[in-house]
Amino acid sequence: MAAKIISGTEVAKQIREELKKEVEELKEKHSVVPGLVTILVGENPASISYVTGKQKTAKELGFHSIQDNQPDDISEEKLLGLIDQYNKDPKIHGILVQLPLPKSINETKVLYAIDPAKDVDGFHPVNLGKLMIGEAEYLPCTPAGVQQLLIRSGTETKGAEVVVVGRSNIVGKPVANILLQKQDGANATVTICHTGTKDMASHTKRADILIVAAGKPKAITADMVKDGVVVIDVGVNRIGKTESGKAKLCGDVDFDAVKEKAGAITPVPGGVGPMTITMLMMNTVKSAKVHAGLN
Ligand code: GUN
Repeated sequence: MAAKIISGTEVAKQIREELKKEVEELKEKHSVVPGLVTILVGENPASISYVTGKQKTAKELGFHSIQDNQPDDISEEKLLGLIDQYNKDPKIHGILVQLPLPKSINETKVLYAIDPAKDVDGFHPVNLGKLMIGEAEYLPCTPAGVQQLLIRSGTETKGAEVVVVGRSNIVGKPVANILLQKQDGANATVTICHTGTKDMASHTKRADILIVAAGKPKAITADMVKDGVVVIDVGVNRIGKTESGKAKLCGDVDFDAVKEKAGAITPVPGGVGPMTITMLMMNTVKSAKVHAGLN
């Protein structure tokens, strides 16, 4: 039987409606307006598209939002100075520096410069450390989106065999950490597979929940999964072009074949993608509340 499709577009819409109400209430009752700045260095087309999406959503939700574009030859010192300025700005509750940065700039140094209390991307080591010890404040957005998709699709995580494919710092490692916490919407037995894994299929075939962030189209084929598995495909690969000339997107999972075996599966596009921006908005609302002493 073909799998149930878990629509990130639908879940994201639902969460954004909840957030919009929360933002209205914050304004009316407490005169608090969540503020988000997105800093874009250079003109990478994919980054422009991501940042535009983030700003559009922030405006739709009624945020104070700033798009700060900087040339790709900006010095590291100037960029650090800019971050310091936003760290001190009381109207700004969330600071996002779009990655990747030009090679001349030390990405780690820049991420470390963001005040952890305004790190709505959840990339600062303080926030990643808090996640690891079960004290998370700002979860990285894509992993948080994956967890919300599982919760809101009614997928039981407690005691489930979760297999994560990919060990990146922004998806694989944090999503594994989120799902192993002794908390609601988690409490799973988690395995992480990566390029050093000897027999990938022996692990993926055991999965009740398979989360794939491998960065490779068709990394997961139907013979690598068991019947009824819930598949969350985090991959975003641009292959070929559609009729309108735009790049065609596909995930890391052989969707057409795997959906015939899976119990539920996320599509690409329309799966994890819309959730990432939504979790950024959720983190920014949370930060605004914390800064106003309301959380
Ligand atoms: N580049 C690609 N995805 C992301 C993201 O989630 N946050 C930031 N800051 N940069 C990115």
